[in-house]
Amino acid sequence: MASTSTILLFVLQISLFLSSSLAADPYAYYDFEVSYITASPLGVPQQVIAINGKFPGEPINVTTNNNVVVNVHNKLDESLLFTWAGIFQRRSHWEDGVSGTNCPIPPKWNWTYQFQVKDQIGSFFYYPSLNFQRAAGGFGAFIINPRSIIPIPFATPEADIIILIGDWYTRSHSDLRKSLNGGKSLGMPDGVLINGKGPYRYNDTLVPDGIDYETIHVHPGKTYRLRVHNVGISTSLNFRIQNHNLLLAETEGSYTVQQNYTSLDIHVGQSYSFLVTMDQNASTDYYIVASPRFVNQTTWQKVTGVAILQYSNSKGKASGPLPDPPQDEFDKTFSMNQARSIRWNVTASGARPNPQGSFRYGSINVTDLYVIENKPPVKIDGKKRATLNGISFVNPATPMRLADKHKIKGVYKLDFPHKPLTGPPRKETSVINGTFRGFIEIILQNNETKVQTYHLDGYNFFVVGMDYGEWSENSRGTYNKWDGVARTTAQVYPGAWTAILVSLDNVGFWNLRTENLDSWYLGQETYIRVINPETENIPELANKTELPIPDNVLYCGALSKLQKPQDVSPASNDSVQKILTLLMLCASILLFH
Ligand SMILES: *[C@@H]1O[C@H](CO)[C@@H](O)[C@H](O)[C@H]1NC(C)=O
Ligand SMILES: *[C@@H]1O[C@H](CO)[C@@H](O)[C@H](O)[C@H]1NC(C)=O
Ligand SMILES: *[C@@H]1O[C@H](CO)[C@@H](O)[C@H](O)[C@H]1NC(C)=O
Ligand SMILES: *[C@@H]1O[C@H](CO)[C@@H](O)[C@H](O)[C@H]1NC(C)=O
Ligand SMILES: *[C@@H]1O[C@H](CO)[C@@H](O)[C@H](O)[C@H]1NC(C)=O
Ligand SMILES: *[C@@H]1O[C@H](CO)[C@@H](O)[C@H](O)[C@H]1NC(C)=O
Ligand SMILES: *[C@@H]1O[C@H](CO)[C@@H](O)[C@H](O)[C@H]1NC(C)=O
Ligand SMILES: *[C@@H]1O[C@H](CO)[C@@H](O)[C@H](O)[C@H]1NC(C)=O
Ligand SMILES: *[C@@H]1O[C@H](CO)[C@@H](O)[C@H](O)[C@H]1NC(C)=O
Ligand SMILES: *[C@@H]1O[C@H](CO)[C@@H](O)[C@H](O)[C@H]1NC(C)=O
Ligand SMILES: *[C@@H]1O[C@H](CO)[C@@H](O)[C@H](O)[C@H]1NC(C)=O
Ligand SMILES: *[C@@H]1O[C@H](CO)[C@@H](O)[C@H](O)[C@H]1NC(C)=O
Repeated sequence: MASTSTILLFVLQISLFLSSSLAADPYAYYDFEVSYITASPLGVPQQVIAINGKFPGEPINVTTNNNVVVNVHNKLDESLLFTWAGIFQRRSHWEDGVSGTNCPIPPKWNWTYQFQVKDQIGSFFYYPSLNFQRAAGGFGAFIINPRSIIPIPFATPEADIIILIGDWYTRSHSDLRKSLNGGKSLGMPDGVLINGKGPYRYNDTLVPDGIDYETIHVHPGKTYRLRVHNVGISTSLNFRIQNHNLLLAETEGSYTVQQNYTSLDIHVGQSYSFLVTMDQNASTDYYIVASPRFVNQTTWQKVTGVAILQYSNSKGKASGPLPDPPQDEFDKTFSMNQARSIRWNVTASGARPNPQGSFRYGSINVTDLYVIENKPPVKIDGKKRATLNGISFVNPATPMRLADKHKIKGVYKLDFPHKPLTGPPRKETSVINGTFRGFIEIILQNNETKVQTYHLDGYNFFVVGMDYGEWSENSRGTYNKWDGVARTTAQVYPGAWTAILVSLDNVGFWNLRTENLDSWYLGQETYIRVINPETENIPELANKTELPIPDNVLYCGALSKLQKPQDVSPASNDSVQKILTLLMLCASILLFH
């Protein structure tokens, strides 16, 4: 039996570990200058959001437990926030970059995010969360590599290749926003981009001349890790590579059971790693395709992303028709069965040496149930809005936790309903009352005719079941209680449900939203408030479960009087400051001689 002193020592070590980890782990610094550039990914010049002049933005590529510092310079003409979707922001929703928890970074200002990628590995992506900006770019991959002492469940690949796929409009994000504000829908996208580029000209009629396309260069016989992310607006995409198998290995921070797919459906906001072996004879280049799912293939023919996989010994260009998408027009279960086949490798190590599956989610008792249903858009006060359980979320002027800390009442209501409301839909800042260390079951019920994907900040969750029809208590009999994959973004098929389980061990206000950008913009989101009641009023203990408000926090709404102005005059900029420092250095050298 462990003695009391050993236990005490253990507790002491844990608390030392908690308080010192931020200081001891290495830092990774990034500077993001966010501005508009003109680009023509589909042959039409348009305004695009670039990071350091690049579209898409450069990847953030770090290692488990690194402290990540991103200094964001807002050179747009509107407010900005970055969200690091899938990164847990453990104990620090202050850095999460969504409207409910952070004040926006005004134009011309800069603001520095700082957070630790604690106990995480995997493939994610970041993007701007406000004002429909993701439709104009500003996104990039976010990779967390395991520490070198942690084994990975496959041979080290030759290289990592990032592939960002997504539907795309040639209209600017402010135009698209205007359409939505005016109650219109966005209509069919103009194309699908792969790494910010338009399609390879696989068909002269469908693809105009002069479009820049993506080429992925590889060596024969080698195996590469492709990290594929759907960064688009609202279109589910089927991803495939001509003549090549996709060996699925990871999704959003969990290693999966490794299985070959000829193609995989990747829904908006989702990320996957595939191991792809270059085992073909390079008689030609090969097509890489991202094509829309569940749409009329004839009308949507132009909305297809095509890139090129080129072996170093390639003997010629790719030609002929694209590889076929799944032939399942009359079989709506195909895609769902494929989704169900994605399972957790319970014996692989994740971010820690112990097996992922040592967290036996199937044997934990559920403490709370929420059935959350999205319905087709409705009119509320004469405006088109999207709802969850009959509530269209209204972002508060004052971030909710900041309001808590400053004892400002009435910013939000803790009354998000456990079941869809039957009354008329309404607009509210209504959030879920989460229980710290509770284990909740959330049923996402999709009453629309389009696939929705849901993302929860601050956590990953176990996808334990999905099926067509209405969820009922009997549906629990079909749950996967053993190797349902833990991820951060799950799809819900039209007229179907998806069940997820979440262990509420991360204190904060965490955004639960649809990743479909138009539905999100129209209010299809809420937050889960998870607060540790034991330490809420004991400041010395509180930061064990929630980091203190950062020094650089921005204030807005009811707290805007606390915000100091940021000196945005040209004289305060870096180069001038450097010159001044240099001058002062010269002066002091002169003085001391
Ligand atoms: C990320 O960094 C690791 C080394 O830490 C490197 O092996 C890998 O290729 C990088 N990935 C990308 C996509 O740059
Ligand atoms: C703005 O950027 C400068 C350096 O360019 C940095 O010193 C300063 O801390 C940043 N301000 C904020 C609020 O992050
Ligand atoms: C699961 O992970 C283990 C441990 O790394 C590995 O040996 C095994 O091949 C993986 N299994 C599958 C089916 O991917
Ligand atoms: C190109 O696409 C058009 C429209 O779908 C089709 O009619 C034509 O056959 C295609 N051309 C080739 C060479 O495949
Ligand atoms: C996947 O396909 C490759 C060929 O591309 C094959 O070598 C490998 O054994 C397959 N792996 C699995 C787990 O089926
Ligand atoms: C290479 O592949 C092509 C297409 O699969 C095939 O027609 C050809 O015979 C192959 N060539 C050799 C040398 O294997
Ligand atoms: C797809 O669209 C085409 C052209 O508008 C139409 O002729 C066809 O009937 C549609 N197909 C289906 C299955 O709805
Ligand atoms: C879960 O609930 C069951 C029945 O209500 C109970 O017997 C069991 O002890 C609980 N398990 C845990 C881990 O709390
Ligand atoms: C929130 O839930 C807790 C139990 O976890 C309960 O004590 C509290 O009264 C609830 N708050 C509201 C406003 O419903
Ligand atoms: C939406 O809900 C209504 C009422 O429950 C039901 O009749 C209809 O079939 C549902 N539609 C979808 C697509 O789930
Ligand atoms: C937690 O709060 C205490 C007292 O307010 C402070 O001394 C300590 O430095 C804080 N720890 C961290 C990790 O911020
Ligand atoms: C900084 O100031 C210099 C000189 O006044 C100016 O040329 C430059 O554009 C400014 N840079 C930024 C980022 O504002």
